Amino acid sequence: MNNNPHLKVLGISGSLRKASFNTGLLRAAQEVAPEGMEITMFDIKDLPFYNGDVEAEGDPASVIALKAAVHDADAVLFATPEYNWGTSGALKNAIDWASRDREKGSLMGKPATIIGAGGRAGTARAQMQIHETLAETGAVVMVKPGVQIQAFAPGTFDSEGNLIDEGTKELLRKHLEEFTNWILPLVLPREFIRHACEMDVQLAQR
Ligand SMILES: Cc1cc2nc3c(=O)[nH]c(=O)nc-3n(C[C@H](O)[C@H](O)[C@H](O)COP(=O)(O)O)c2cc1C
Repeated sequence: MNNNPHLKVLGISGSLRKASFNTGLLRAAQEVAPEGMEITMFDIKDLPFYNGDVEAEGDPASVIALKAAVHDADAVLFATPEYNWGTSGALKNAIDWASRDREKGSLMGKPATIIGAGGRAGTARAQMQIHETLAETGAVVMVKPGVQIQAFAPGTFDSEGNLIDEGTKELLRKHLEEFTNWILPLVLPREFIRHACEMDVQLAQR
């Protein structure tokens, strides 16, 4: 029996590459996600570089779409590559844009977790960097059990970036299971309040 409520998780890959290991990691996450968790992807490739002048003229369509997607999700799952010990410029840029939604609070208080596939350190340093950035946005990040994948180990990914190693899928599955348990106490009170408000409106309309 599935006791979990429907959890909407937004997957954001920091790599723009077609055969990206990190985008592949998110596809695998969709496959092994616990019952009740639905992971949809947001592609950050169309976001312009953050520029206050562009913002002052009004958010471009891709930025509006990003903010709406983050706002509508119960939680965010970031998959980061590691470039020179940091995350990709593309992912940092996406987080910067999403953080500019303070009135609606799209990242403020939003549960999030970070996974990644890269070289020998499995993107640990890139993950730390995003964690620091997310602290300023108000997002609340679950760190453990953690998913740091050595993408170049033979038999881990295929040439199209699909995760093929069963042990790694299991690690991912356990991380998402823990993520579900961790999200619920954060999300359920909001759901409760939303239902209570709807009930109030219905009663008032009688
Ligand atoms: C400019 C550049 C810098 C890189 N620096 C690192 C690094 O510091 N640590 C690491 O683990 N991998 C590094 N790599 C290798 C990436 O982890 C690898 O390209 C990985 O496949 C990128 O993720 P993706 O497959 O999702 O695109 C670097 C790659 C590039 C292009």
